[in-house]
Amino acid sequence: MRQISVGDTVGYGIAGCGVIAPWHAGSLKEHVKGARLLACCDEVPERAREFAARFDIPKVYTDYDAFLADPEIDAVSVCAPSGMHGDMVMRASHAGKHAMTEKPMDITLPKIDAMIQTTRANRTVLAVIFQRRTSPMWQVIRETVQEGKLGRMLLGDAYLKYYRSQAYYDSGAWRGTWALDGGGALMNQGVHLVDQLQWIMGPVDTLFSFADHLARKIEVEDTTVSAIRYKSGAFGTLQGTTSVIGSVEWERDAAGEVQVTKEGGLSHRLEFHGDRGTIMVDGERIVTWAVPGVPEPNLSADGVGSAASDPRSIGMAGHIVQLQDFVDAIREGRDPMVTGEDGRAAVEIILAVYRSAQTGAPVTLPL
Ligand SMILES: NC(=O)c1ccc[n+]([C@@H]2O[C@H](COP(=O)([O-])OP(=O)(O)OC[C@H]3O[C@@H](n4cnc5c(N)ncnc54)[C@H](O)[C@@H]3O)[C@@H](O)[C@H]2O)c1
Repeated sequence: MRQISVGDTVGYGIAGCGVIAPWHAGSLKEHVKGARLLACCDEVPERAREFAARFDIPKVYTDYDAFLADPEIDAVSVCAPSGMHGDMVMRASHAGKHAMTEKPMDITLPKIDAMIQTTRANRTVLAVIFQRRTSPMWQVIRETVQEGKLGRMLLGDAYLKYYRSQAYYDSGAWRGTWALDGGGALMNQGVHLVDQLQWIMGPVDTLFSFADHLARKIEVEDTTVSAIRYKSGAFGTLQGTTSVIGSVEWERDAAGEVQVTKEGGLSHRLEFHGDRGTIMVDGERIVTWAVPGVPEPNLSADGVGSAASDPRSIGMAGHIVQLQDFVDAIREGRDPMVTGEDGRAAVEIILAVYRSAQTGAPVTLPL
């Protein structure tokens, strides 16, 4: 592994050139200081080539091991299907490369624990994308709750009522599968909200859940509901679906029949209630701020954005902050703002939801 210090330029590569990869490439090319994006890799050759051309990336690989063997690469973003993150991060670490993985960091706890252990042992930096944590609005909400400004916490709720069509699930063989997506509405889309719930409310003690595919032809769930008790004693509700139609455009055809031309989901909501106050956020905007002694902050997290109907509708602001932090962590020899240990909690809660739904019984953490 090349020793990197403050002032050095980090040689950077992106593995997986699909939907989310442009957020990494765009951040690195236009915003992040101290890194040079010099390689990309996708097992589908034309995808790798097109991506390299779009972002002016000099080296193109189709084999991950050959990519990892490139001595100019110090750090990689893993933007491949979720169930591959663990193996790809560990292979990168054994090759002496630091790794930033997309969320969820992997889909099983043994793999996640091995990622943490391997990267710590090899002294390579492991960072996990949870872009909402970078937003000043969310940081203020977390501080306000954790400093007790809402009093004793009673409820911490998250509602994700998104829309993903069958065509979305059919757009990649890995989507909607247990083996590579690791779950559906919660593991893929809802993982951000689950992370925020536990980041703000503290650890989950016990939950009881229903989960099933009610609308889409997929292995995993498209709809799930859970009742939660946090370790603090507060309760919560967690809903996650990718099958709700919250907006619809339609017209009548020549025969007078209704033809739907566009469907979309609803913005997500996070709601926190204590015995002295309430904070409610709808689609990254504060809609209720009832906190005695603390004026409402003039902040929104619109730059991080929502993906209610389309995964491409998220903003780049959070990726820019996390990638800059990752590069700085490598150069300064420190942990990144979201470590592997931090990324683990949300996956554990989601796996508890699936276990409860499968067994029909409440599940107490840790698993
Ligand atoms: N942070 C966010 O808000 C956000 C948004 C969307 C997706 N994601 C995450 O990003 C990851 C990728 O999702 P996506 O929607 O971009 O998927 P995608 O299917 O569009 O892209 C994945 C790419 O990885 C490539 N790939 C597969 N195996 C590979 C290998 N061994 N070596 C190199 N490339 C390989 C595929 O060919 C594909 O091009 C998922 O884990 C997803 O959860 C995060």
